[in-house]
Amino acid sequence: MDQSIKKFKRTHMCGQLDQEDINKDVIVMGWVQRRRDLGGLIFIDLRDRAGIVQVVFDAKKCEKNFDEAEKLRNEYVVAIKGQVVERTPETVNPKIPTGYIEIVAHELMILSTSKTPPFMIEDDIKVSEAIRLKYRYLDLRRPKMQQNLILRHNVCKWIRDFLNNEGFLEIETPMLTRSTPEGARDYLVPSRVHPGSFYALPQSPQLFKQLLMLSGYDKYYQIARCFRDEDLRADRQPEFTQVDIEMSFVDIDDIMGVNERMIAYVFKKNLNMDITLPLPRISYKEAMSRYGSDKPDTRFGLELNDVSDIVKNSDFKVFTGAIERGGSVRAINAEGCGTKFSRREIDGLVDYVKDFGAKGLAWIVVEDSELKSPITKFFNDEQLNMLLDRLEAKSGDLLLFVADKDDVVFRALGELRLELGRRLGLLDDSKYNLLWVTEFPLFEYSEEEKRYVAKHHPFTAPMDEDIKYLENSPEKVRSKAYDMVLNGVEIGGGSIRIHDSNLQERMLKALGFNKEEAWDRFGFLLQAFQYGAPPHGGMAYGLDRFVMLLAGESSIREVIAFPKVQNASDLMTGAPSPVDLKQLEELNIKIDINDV
Ligand code: AMO
Ligand code: AMP
Repeated sequence: MDQSIKKFKRTHMCGQLDQEDINKDVIVMGWVQRRRDLGGLIFIDLRDRAGIVQVVFDAKKCEKNFDEAEKLRNEYVVAIKGQVVERTPETVNPKIPTGYIEIVAHELMILSTSKTPPFMIEDDIKVSEAIRLKYRYLDLRRPKMQQNLILRHNVCKWIRDFLNNEGFLEIETPMLTRSTPEGARDYLVPSRVHPGSFYALPQSPQLFKQLLMLSGYDKYYQIARCFRDEDLRADRQPEFTQVDIEMSFVDIDDIMGVNERMIAYVFKKNLNMDITLPLPRISYKEAMSRYGSDKPDTRFGLELNDVSDIVKNSDFKVFTGAIERGGSVRAINAEGCGTKFSRREIDGLVDYVKDFGAKGLAWIVVEDSELKSPITKFFNDEQLNMLLDRLEAKSGDLLLFVADKDDVVFRALGELRLELGRRLGLLDDSKYNLLWVTEFPLFEYSEEEKRYVAKHHPFTAPMDEDIKYLENSPEKVRSKAYDMVLNGVEIGGGSIRIHDSNLQERMLKALGFNKEEAWDRFGFLLQAFQYGAPPHGGMAYGLDRFVMLLAGESSIREVIAFPKVQNASDLMTGAPSPVDLKQLEELNIKIDINDV
């Protein structure tokens, strides 16, 4: 086989040919998608990144190497010289953009052959994700994957265009660094030169971007890889990409303003969709009490209602007990579900909330003349009427209650709300509901560490009016942090930072670090801040999550070229893998695995 493609210089991409090219002599290259042999006539679909075009080999018109065409199989790579012709009306295929034309081949060159691939290179294949990931290089040939990665490229480009235009500078920060306090476990890299010492891969460029503000760069961004060793889910990868932004001399509204204009710009470019600005804002407290979540999906209602005041004097011990212990009783009116759901389906919901920590789920089915429920006997008529009123219950509705500590109630009902939304088909794919969640608590109590930890990170500024609670009632302090939420997914978050070293010291003290510990961990930052820090703040987006939502996918693995699976391994390369003893010796590392 002559491997040289010198005499074949590509003139067109397969998927870009159209009626305007009729009669042109063209040279195309690509992969054989499919081959049909009709005796003296062979048809192939030829595929490249731009799409598919049909090529016809007629023994009479491709005299030189018609026999080569007979050898073609799926995924062979070929170069074809030929002429574009109009298809006869009865052979037009309106389903593909090139369906009105085809190429009559004059010459063919097989550039490489292929084994039969483990799955067809087309959308909607029925193979496990494990097989797709093992043969990711084949999976990435599928049109949907190519569209996803092209979309990702475009989103990055639009973001860069927008930020460059606003005067931001793109600056890189180190990959080999000190551990930064983002709260997840670090990926560590052993140092050969400093035996026993480790670099950490960055969980985000947080400290560096703050230092860049201190250095006077004013507006920074970076499309940065971040690494976090945490339990993986559909929207979490051990390495993921942030669009990371920081600005100086700004307050909350300035940062939110630029960011929402940037997101609106991407929507305009991608879908020609106009997003109404400013985006709605909702406080953390309101988000929790209405949706049971700090990343509410606002495409549908089914909101939570606090009914504690109504049921606190009832005879139902489950409810009154929860309230006495400082918790609450909250409810969702699943409208119409009283008639829609069978008893078994309602029992299914009870089991569903138990997965999220609830001890049970009380329910009332509202019918014209009566209430069906195991719990109505514990309430008097006045209480029942008030409940129906509060929940705006109508005949046919299903009222669902959880009683517990607030965090359990919010989690259980928040998840139940989403499950009801899914079951009732309320998650409208054509809607993009964006909003800000603001006024997050500055701290959250860690049962594990028995101390307050920063909900965002230790450099997030408290709200001015709450600074006074820092020492004595840390649970009351709200922060200048904000998240951007799209259809129930947190696509980004950020905050105004502390730029005053006194306040920073008070904050670190509230987090339980004494001065030495604080200087030991963040000394370089604390020191830098003694040399004139501008007020600053910023934000980081999960690029993978944002692109996932724009691509209509439900896992970020679909928009990452080479992702890892649940247990953080790469099924194609086999990473992570054991290494040579010699490599370990150089690093002064001995492996001592006990329980494997
Ligand atoms: P945060 O930790 O909230 O903030 O991260 C910002 C955004 O990154 C995305 N994200 C992830 N995406 C995929 N896989 C993961 N494991 C993962 N973890 C986070 C989320 C999230 O909203 N330095 C701060 C930002 C700042 O304050 O400016 C930070 O990293 O979409
Ligand atoms: P029990 O008294 O455990 O038989 O529960 C009576 C009803 O209350 C059942 O329908 C339970 O699912 C429900 N239930 C139990 N615990 C809770 C709770 N913490 N919140 C809401 N409903 C509950």
